[in-house]
Amino acid sequence: MTQTENKPLVSDTPLVPIEKIVSLCKRRGFVYPNSEIYGGVAGIYDFGPLGVELRNNIRRFWWWSMVQTHDNVVGIEGATITHPRVWEASGHVENFVDRLVDCKQCKQRFRVDHLPAENLEQHKCPNCGGELMAEPRVFNLLMETYLGVVEGDRMKTYLRGEACQNIYLDYDNVLKSSRMQIPFGICQIGKAYRNEVTPGNFLFRQREFEQWDLQFFVHPNNMEQWFEYWKQYRFDWYKSLINHKDRLRMRAHDTDELAHYAKQAFDVEYHTILGWQEWEGIHWRQDWDLSRHAQFSGQDLGYTDPLTKEHYTPWIVETSGGVDRTFLNLLLDAYEEEPDPAGKEPRTVLHLHPWLAPIKVAVFPLQKNKEELVTSAKSIHSNLQRFMVSQYDEIGNIGRRYRRQDEIGTPYCVTIDFQTLDDQTVTVRERDQMSQIRIPINELLMYLLERVTWK
Ligand code: GAP
Repeated sequence: MTQTENKPLVSDTPLVPIEKIVSLCKRRGFVYPNSEIYGGVAGIYDFGPLGVELRNNIRRFWWWSMVQTHDNVVGIEGATITHPRVWEASGHVENFVDRLVDCKQCKQRFRVDHLPAENLEQHKCPNCGGELMAEPRVFNLLMETYLGVVEGDRMKTYLRGEACQNIYLDYDNVLKSSRMQIPFGICQIGKAYRNEVTPGNFLFRQREFEQWDLQFFVHPNNMEQWFEYWKQYRFDWYKSLINHKDRLRMRAHDTDELAHYAKQAFDVEYHTILGWQEWEGIHWRQDWDLSRHAQFSGQDLGYTDPLTKEHYTPWIVETSGGVDRTFLNLLLDAYEEEPDPAGKEPRTVLHLHPWLAPIKVAVFPLQKNKEELVTSAKSIHSNLQRFMVSQYDEIGNIGRRYRRQDEIGTPYCVTIDFQTLDDQTVTVRERDQMSQIRIPINELLMYLLERVTWK
């Protein structure tokens, strides 16, 4: 995984306010508030035309680098509703809680684990200095739902609170139906639901969101080695996609931060206007999950080594990140308002990695009232569409069209002008450097493919 060579280092650009991204996302069709015409729902969002393209690219790239390029990893797609016992076995019914305290004066509500230690000790509100309630209230984050229609016979269950549970449920089926042997991994991308008590910061903390998980099953003696492998691999993966390399770090969890299933945990963290925040968790889950599901289901979820015949419960390395948090962090990382040297309006540009950009190329005829130019541009556009997402645009002057594409991160724009009609060459303009070159039409596809597809 390498960054394209001509990408500028923009690590000195200021941290971007979330509001700028919210506004861009709404204006250009990346993200909309869910049920907006009814006033919206906190912590739930819809993705618009450009948002869907970006999400799909992010997901596809993860899948390619985690599943399709690892011979010892396979993928599944599980349902978002499961048997309710799953959540008892997983520990979520008992432990998946947030503790909240309210301020008696300003009524603001705080998660206990987000309060500075001195406020917690002195029961002092960090907002108004008023008194906090002494006893925190406990909220379970699982979202309840009911299966069946007849009152009394309906079964209460939960929308999945973490997507990875399907992987433990399907682990034995995968073992029996594929030729996987330990060490091996199962990946999944899918929605998870949490009744977050403090949803906020746009896509950062939502109630419906998407996770990507790898659960990698190992012999206990090899846990350390695989834990280190995946830690490094995931860190490098995120690093390959961002401009601000210095805003990425790996942080070990303190023992009091560990989730109920984790014996050790590291977070890949990214620094934004919200401070250093978790992007992905790498968890040493040991045999917690398989042992608990074996205990609650009465099934043997152990593994027999085909050579040594040793029978044991595999240990698990988990890498668990968020598609939505990746979406947000990549936009925060890519956004720049570049000052104009002539003092005109700044250029808003998304320095998104070309692999992930929602539109790969935009094709323009120099003038929309010249039929030969339009015909040639449309023909080039429809040829490119067979291989990548291309957008045709003939509205406004070329400068404005470049600006529209810069704002949504399109890495290349192709202009068809009068010279094209004479010598079959086009101008290709690159987003970050704003450099332009002229190339023959018959070399255009390869030129673009080399730059916008991952390798
Ligand atoms: N299976 C382990 C697990 O679920 P987690 O740290 O709770 O671990 C993993 O979640 C990732 O899911 C986080 O690193 C984050 O990227 C994403 N995530 C968690 N809660 C989220 C929320 N409420 N909104 C958006 N993304 C969330």
